[in-house]
Amino acid sequence: MGTPERTCRPAAVTSGKLLTDNPALYETRFPDPERLAGRWAEDCLRRYGAGPRVLDIGCGTGRDAAHLHAAGRTVIAADLSGTMLEYARAHHPGPEYTRADLRGFDLGEQSFDAVVCLDSALLYCHTNEEFDGFLSSCRRSLPPGGLLVAEMRNGAFFLGRTELLDKPSVDGFTWQETAYTSTTALYVDRAAQLLRRTRVWTAADGSPPVEQRSAWRLLPPQELRHFLAVHGFEVLALYDGPGPRTEAPWREGDLPRATADGDRLHLVARLASTRLTLVNSRITLGRRTCA
Ligand SMILES: C[S@@+](CC[C@H](N)C(=O)[O-])C[C@H]1O[C@@H](n2cnc3c(N)ncnc32)[C@H](O)[C@@H]1O
Repeated sequence: MGTPERTCRPAAVTSGKLLTDNPALYETRFPDPERLAGRWAEDCLRRYGAGPRVLDIGCGTGRDAAHLHAAGRTVIAADLSGTMLEYARAHHPGPEYTRADLRGFDLGEQSFDAVVCLDSALLYCHTNEEFDGFLSSCRRSLPPGGLLVAEMRNGAFFLGRTELLDKPSVDGFTWQETAYTSTTALYVDRAAQLLRRTRVWTAADGSPPVEQRSAWRLLPPQELRHFLAVHGFEVLALYDGPGPRTEAPWREGDLPRATADGDRLHLVARLASTRLTLVNSRITLGRRTCA
């Protein structure tokens, strides 16, 4: 006989994130043994001639930052999660790790040639104000000509498509000798323009189920272009693949497709020397300042 009472128990709702609170589990669930994400980012930086100083914001376990460091770059890697940073320092040394909130960061006198933001970390900017905060912070941290390289879910993928929303997905895996099952339901919160996720974890060790909620901004390409233009960024590339997390993964030498229809978006943008500034709802063209 099984233990049906375990699954009948109400799930404990937690504000913590099982994966970001367990960086080792995060790397186990989302393995990247070939360092595809780091290699793709380095390829973009080289292709568009970025200088050596890189900020990896939302760096997670630090594996991408460490790859960029190994490629010869001077990397500062930042995350909001102290647990992630602790793990990154211990397991992926090389970059300087620091705590920062991507929705508005100020790294003092530090200046970078490029800001890198991978695996949808950018989409933790849920509101327009938060996204403005991110882009203003990037602008302060970059010189004219500095690059922004990002990889994320494509908000446009959900327009007219429901295959990821129709039914919960169930996934099983074993971690540290305990079998876990995760049941994940996604839904689109149209008013907030968020993809919301509820995930319930059950463990075979008898511990009570845990329910966790996350959300990502649904950011379609045209809206992303508008935000970037307002903040003085010129879009150099915006496409759906191939990339490090596409079904047919990116390989060295692959060229970007001309489409932005798939479930991932890849962005390379350059800070122009003049910028459009949104002032009291009026857009004005002005010289870039460090304000
Ligand atoms: C999906 S992980 C991506 C990690 C890493 N970039 C990668 O590609 O493996 C998202 C990361 O963003 C971090 N994060 C979430 N909200 C953040 C915020 N407001 N500021 C900085 N980091 C944040 C999380 O702690 C987590 O490490």
